[in-house]
Amino acid sequence: MSVTIAQVTDCHLMAEPEALFCQINPAERLQKVLADIKNLPNTPDFIVFTGDIVQQETAESYQLFANIVANAKLPQKKFLLPGNHDLPAEIAALKRSELFVDSDHFSASGWQFLLLDSYLEEGRGAGSVDCTVLNKRLEQADHSAHLALFVHHHIAEFKSFIDNYPLNNALELRQAIAKIENFKGLFHGHVHAYQQGLTDGIAWFACPASSVQFDHQGDKNYLPDFGYQVIKCQADGRIQTSVRWL
Ligand SMILES: [Fe+2]
Repeated sequence: MSVTIAQVTDCHLMAEPEALFCQINPAERLQKVLADIKNLPNTPDFIVFTGDIVQQETAESYQLFANIVANAKLPQKKFLLPGNHDLPAEIAALKRSELFVDSDHFSASGWQFLLLDSYLEEGRGAGSVDCTVLNKRLEQADHSAHLALFVHHHIAEFKSFIDNYPLNNALELRQAIAKIENFKGLFHGHVHAYQQGLTDGIAWFACPASSVQFDHQGDKNYLPDFGYQVIKCQADGRIQTSVRWL
């Protein structure tokens, strides 16, 4: 038995469906991403949105997001996390709506997944997690299950401009996770790139953006691809990710 999750991130929606972000239409791209998830031959069990849902922080942008998700008619349980561009009250309202599950964790097939909020008011793109709360959650987690985390911000340096918008207490987070024997991996957004790494013994997996990709080699150029990642968590604790470029 395994569990499969589609991770969608950094949608950066504008208030108007036709409005552009970085010369592309983010609403159209999100629609294409959700249509692709619907047509996957191996249907994912869950869908997790990991923040930066909007670029224009208005109620209209969130309404557009809700409309796109509703119109996609995806049968899976959907979870939602805020990113640095989000409005916490709008995210909370969405989570309470019938479109999403209002929970910060879910379990399946011998796995437990925790959703971790890294929103920081006045963070100017940076984030922070409450490690006191996290430590408690890790203590109370199902220690017979494999454990994984979703969070918006990256937890290891990318050595690019994105490090100007870091998770302020990434080291503290890594130390908290490193103590957990059954911890298997962390999935994040924010970097707009498909990349994986191992930092302080923690496997992390960066999800491509549904809007535009960032070039971490160059000087904040935008790359033409967009997509999402499919995460497969095996019963023996192995994680495999694949990317769907559209
Ligand atoms: Fe972000």
